[in-house]
Amino acid sequence: MDYADLITQDKLHVWHPFTPMQDWLAPEHEPLMLVEGRGCYLYDQHGAAYLDGNASIWTNIHGHAHPKINAAIKAQLDRVAHTSFLGFTNPPAAQLAHELVKLWPVDTLTKVFYSDNGSTAIEAAIRMALQYWSQNGRPERDLIIGFDQAYHGDTLGAASLGGISLFKGSANHYGYSVQRVPDLAALKALDDETVRRVAAIIIEPLMQGAAGMRTWPKGMLKQLRTWCDERDIFLILDEVMTGFGRTGKMFACQQEDVIPDLIAFAKGLTGGYLPLAATMTTQRVFDGFLGAASEGRTLYYGHSYTGNQLGCAAALASLEVFREEQVLEKLQPKIAHLTGLLSGLSALPNVGEVRQCGLMAGVEIVAQKEPLVAYPPAATMGAKVCVAARKHGLLTRPVVNTIVLMPPLAITEEQLTTMIEALRKAILEVVN
Ligand SMILES: Cc1ncc(COP(=O)(O)O)c(C=O)c1O
Repeated sequence: MDYADLITQDKLHVWHPFTPMQDWLAPEHEPLMLVEGRGCYLYDQHGAAYLDGNASIWTNIHGHAHPKINAAIKAQLDRVAHTSFLGFTNPPAAQLAHELVKLWPVDTLTKVFYSDNGSTAIEAAIRMALQYWSQNGRPERDLIIGFDQAYHGDTLGAASLGGISLFKGSANHYGYSVQRVPDLAALKALDDETVRRVAAIIIEPLMQGAAGMRTWPKGMLKQLRTWCDERDIFLILDEVMTGFGRTGKMFACQQEDVIPDLIAFAKGLTGGYLPLAATMTTQRVFDGFLGAASEGRTLYYGHSYTGNQLGCAAALASLEVFREEQVLEKLQPKIAHLTGLLSGLSALPNVGEVRQCGLMAGVEIVAQKEPLVAYPPAATMGAKVCVAARKHGLLTRPVVNTIVLMPPLAITEEQLTTMIEALRKAILEVVN
């Protein structure tokens, strides 16, 4: 393959997401073209190997080209790739729904609604919550509570829930009715008139990702569940980032024995192989949409690739790998190893707060530690460190000046050590 020619074609025609395109097009910028993946490593157009330090934007779970997932996708491909899910069903989608329900206690989350990505899984959850109340006796419940610095995706409705203005674009002016709060104390201080209108609360449990890997206080989620229960308000969990083992359990909410009314997940569902998402909910929510078609209680929402057969086959294989390779059981020593490595890294003069939740971490790069002096966002120190890390065989992406570390769960302790060593070298090079 003529990679140089392909890069020319990219520069001529492609518009990349979350990418300042003027910098991308600069003649001196040679884009990294990722051409192959094996386990936790990715390979570029020159054959150089990199540890996939952010699991290909937080998606990959069992490593790249896992034989079991590859085989499942190939076998499904020989039957059929995609068929409509509007008024039809298919074998892997039905089987996957059964497997997903089995991940929860009996009679809790029993219904699965498929879509294509994290944003649409969130859109479906919000639509379900709002429509449920409007057709089940509480039409005044039209308000969603979200948290400051939250990120729930980029489609207009999902973006309007978020609390990071940089990512909201035109959704700053459109979207759902949202009341944003900084924390649990502020939620508890809301006046009765506002609370009367609340349909649901949405949160990224345990850790907010796009906010810069910010952790919530221990026990907060459990208290939030109690607050919702006392008022019969729906709790929606956005486990698009935290789902599928990232925190050390299959879902983050299981760390605090919380079961939501609705949950959205995507990225890791297929092991990071194909775009598939799901919104799960309770029998109660589902039953609120039953009735003769003429009553207009149906959820009129969905996408062309809903229930995609290849995606469902990949997700089924990924869940099998979780079981067969005892992925969750093997995580605890890896998490402890990462904690030790991060504590070593935090001794560096330009490393500020280091936040970890399971196998996810945020490492803040600061100008000075005591007293704390942050680098201005315009200095793009996070991006510079990530570019420098490539020379040392590590790929990841920052959130402003926080370096995100979120390797595939398949990473070994030795590879974790290599990852932190590469980051250490990159930080020292950039700040000196
Ligand atoms: C917590 C959370 N919610 C939603 C999304 C949106 O997911 P997607 O990019 O698949 O639409 C993301 C993506 O990073 C996320 O981290």
